[in-house]
Amino acid sequence: TFFRSLHKNYFCFRRKIASKTVAAKIQLSAKKEAKDERKSFSTLQEERREQAERSVLISCPPNISETKFLKHMSRHGNINNCFFYESFGIYAVVEFSEKESIASLREATSIPSIQHETAVPFKTRLLSVKANNFSLPSSQPSVQCLKQTPIGIKELILKLSREDSIDQQLYSLMEEYQLTEENICLRFLVCSLLKDIAAAYFPECIIRPFGSSVNGFGKLGCDLDMFLDLDAISGRNIKQAGGGLSLEYQLKKTASERAATQSILSVIGECVDQFGPGCVGVQKILNARCPLVRFAHQPSGFQCDLTANNRVAMKSSELLYLYGGLDKRVRAMVLSLRCWARTHGLTSTIPGAWLTNFSLTAMVIFFLQRRSPAVLPTLDQLRDLAGPGDKCTIEGNDCTFVSDFSWMQDQKNTETLEHLLQEFFVFYGNFAFSRMSVNIRKGKEQNKPDTFPLHIQNPFEPSLNVSKNVNATQLERLVTLCQESAWLLQEGGASGRGPARDSPWGMAALLLPSLSQSVRTKGRKRKAREPASERIKSLLDSLKSGKNGSSAKPH
Ligand code: CTP
Ligand code: MG
Repeated sequence: TFFRSLHKNYFCFRRKIASKTVAAKIQLSAKKEAKDERKSFSTLQEERREQAERSVLISCPPNISETKFLKHMSRHGNINNCFFYESFGIYAVVEFSEKESIASLREATSIPSIQHETAVPFKTRLLSVKANNFSLPSSQPSVQCLKQTPIGIKELILKLSREDSIDQQLYSLMEEYQLTEENICLRFLVCSLLKDIAAAYFPECIIRPFGSSVNGFGKLGCDLDMFLDLDAISGRNIKQAGGGLSLEYQLKKTASERAATQSILSVIGECVDQFGPGCVGVQKILNARCPLVRFAHQPSGFQCDLTANNRVAMKSSELLYLYGGLDKRVRAMVLSLRCWARTHGLTSTIPGAWLTNFSLTAMVIFFLQRRSPAVLPTLDQLRDLAGPGDKCTIEGNDCTFVSDFSWMQDQKNTETLEHLLQEFFVFYGNFAFSRMSVNIRKGKEQNKPDTFPLHIQNPFEPSLNVSKNVNATQLERLVTLCQESAWLLQEGGASGRGPARDSPWGMAALLLPSLSQSVRTKGRKRKAREPASERIKSLLDSLKSGKNGSSAKPH
């Protein structure tokens, strides 16, 4: 029986995966992705979470034989998928079709005795295989590793320069930068591995990824934002039971919800620091507005931020996911502008007075709501489309909006990406930031309620400004870069392909460092001589007066 089951499992797997060419595999995942785009956020999240629970992460020796390795792994059950990648060594992600296979695999593993070190006897799903068990002779090529980081900016500029239109450039940038199916699986797996650790304290907890890992706008290599969800045990979702018992033993009472979040994150942070395999540089940042534990997860290479009690952020990730799925131009435009902003130092990985990717994304959505006809609906319109199951209130704030895509109709706006990009720069190169606030709920500029240089209303917490951190200098840089980019695109346009095949044009030209350098020089000169560049101003006026009548409305 053992032999038969091994035989069956192994060959079942070979049929499914190993016999397929890499190209076929990629096609498969592309098809899956296209289908996934239309799945509701919670359905997709749940599927991926469940898939991660059936997966393991395995550190492999450099000369591992894929065939021997998979043959061995399939002794524990059918394998749905497996891929290899590199991060301080080679790793494999193995997804079994049944969760029971993990138990079987765990049974067969031993905790190594290492000289001068003592292992904590906790069997995680991060395993390692011994070098000599599945090795290949050194002359044979090793496994194919899937890349988990994007191409460099120079390579990207070269690639874009070879495209035939600006629209193609934006789609090509998206293809290069967006998270791959495998990278998303790895993100869910890391959450699942951390959940095993947090479960020591909270057995029914769930760790969910949010932010750019799941909102459709993530770039390969972006951080992994996670949220410790205790709702299943907190009683928040439990209807009033008849027994009259309240669960006093669950938590010691604390002064506030914030204090409870801080103490939960403090113990989980300690646990991750002491016992989390591969978790290094653990920092507890508990006094932030949103308390968090930050660390690097070495086996995946992800920079992780773990928060708790952060349901609003989860909702805003869902909203962005919905917006990204409504029209294929949205993700291409946001990813391209995220890349443009990062290249010119408008955004940064270091927190500070810079624009954040979240704020920038809200600005793109707002701009697309302001087109005529609109590319994207307002948040109020999405709320009106919501069904009874979509109703959601968090801390007194209405977070209701439609969750599925079934109501979608044919898109009325047919502008090209090239035109939208150009108009985006004109729109924000000319926006009345000093008086007006960006508001995606209403899809209309509102009077600014405060004096911060940039005001973008938090869609679910209307009293908050998501760009409160942005100072006047950074806003000024954003405006000037928009003006310069509008000018550059207008000058070059679709026909702007350089004489040499590889010379940067269109979107590629917008990513050249010379753009921000020229902005810096102009900024200095301008301070000395004139208040604003007349050339850009007149260009903006000419663009605004509308070559084709579809430009943004004046404010
Ligand atoms: N968030 C928020 N208000 C802010 C900043 C962030 O509600 N002022 C929420 C958003 O849901 C955002 C998530 O927290 O998506 C994660 O924030 P962050 O990591 O800064 O942004 P990402 O969208 O994940 O983008 P990045 O790729 O830069 O990490
Ligand atoms: Mg993030």
